[in-house]
Amino acid sequence: MKYRHACHAGNFADVVKHVALAATLARLAQKERPLFLLETHAGRGRYQLEGGEAAGGILRLASAALRQPPAAITRYLGIVRQFNGAGVPPACYPGSPLIAATLLRPQDRAAFCEIVATEAGLLRREFRRDARIGVHCRDGFEALGALLPPREKRGLALIDPPYEETDADFARVTAALVETSARWPQGTLIAWYPIKQGVTTARFHRQLVSAGLKRLLAVELCIHPDDSRAGLNGSGLVIVNAPYRLEGELAEALPVLHRVLSPAGAGRTRVALIAGE
Ligand SMILES: C[S@@+](CC[C@H](N)C(=O)[O-])C[C@H]1O[C@@H](n2cnc3c(N)ncnc32)[C@H](O)[C@@H]1O
Repeated sequence: MKYRHACHAGNFADVVKHVALAATLARLAQKERPLFLLETHAGRGRYQLEGGEAAGGILRLASAALRQPPAAITRYLGIVRQFNGAGVPPACYPGSPLIAATLLRPQDRAAFCEIVATEAGLLRREFRRDARIGVHCRDGFEALGALLPPREKRGLALIDPPYEETDADFARVTAALVETSARWPQGTLIAWYPIKQGVTTARFHRQLVSAGLKRLLAVELCIHPDDSRAGLNGSGLVIVNAPYRLEGELAEALPVLHRVLSPAGAGRTRVALIAGE
């Protein structure tokens, strides 16, 4: 496996994913009862931004003059600022485990899985003083079967594989969503996917809908036409059991993100409930 998230950290796809992750978790945390968070593909958690793809992502967003940004963007930028300080361009980017951990309360628990030992080791250091959080050096797809459903009954699983083998990861993600929601019907599940030439998102969505997944929200932001040869054209998420009102919050945020992340206006956004109750 060659994938290392460091070169991609803070790119436009991370921004979309992390805005949606923080918005979802913040909604779930509105209820007092404890929640459990599982991340299958956690990464190392903290990335130094030295050039690279963040220029078209977090650095562009952080320097944009946004008047009254939507709540989801304000929340996300506030979290990134916690790792950098105010008024300076971010030099450090928090990955999904660090972002999520800022929203966990004392009564919540989390398990972060990462298969590469060095990355898992770095992540473990981030949370060594936090008894609520376990870092597991293991296969994240397997962990879904082993750790869910949790004793808290409510919570969120984030499935974020690298898609080095695009078709195989789409198949694994589809199976993981269907199997996990059958075993944990109350759980909210988020899976990230790439939008690029040759990827048939419509078929992926159809498979999830016909498997009977409930409250299925599709969230997509593309900075190029879907079938452009540019490489990664868009960032997509499916959210199973999407919390109420998340759809409206993201529908407000994505066009604003798109204006910043695709200044020439290429690409598109979509926030749609593709399956209901
Ligand atoms: C896209 S990155 C994760 C980024 C992270 N979720 C974030 O948003 O900051 C994918 C990560 O999954 C790890 N990985 C790849 N295959 C895995 C597997 N089967 N189980 C757990 N982790 C895996 C990679 O080493 C990499 O760190």
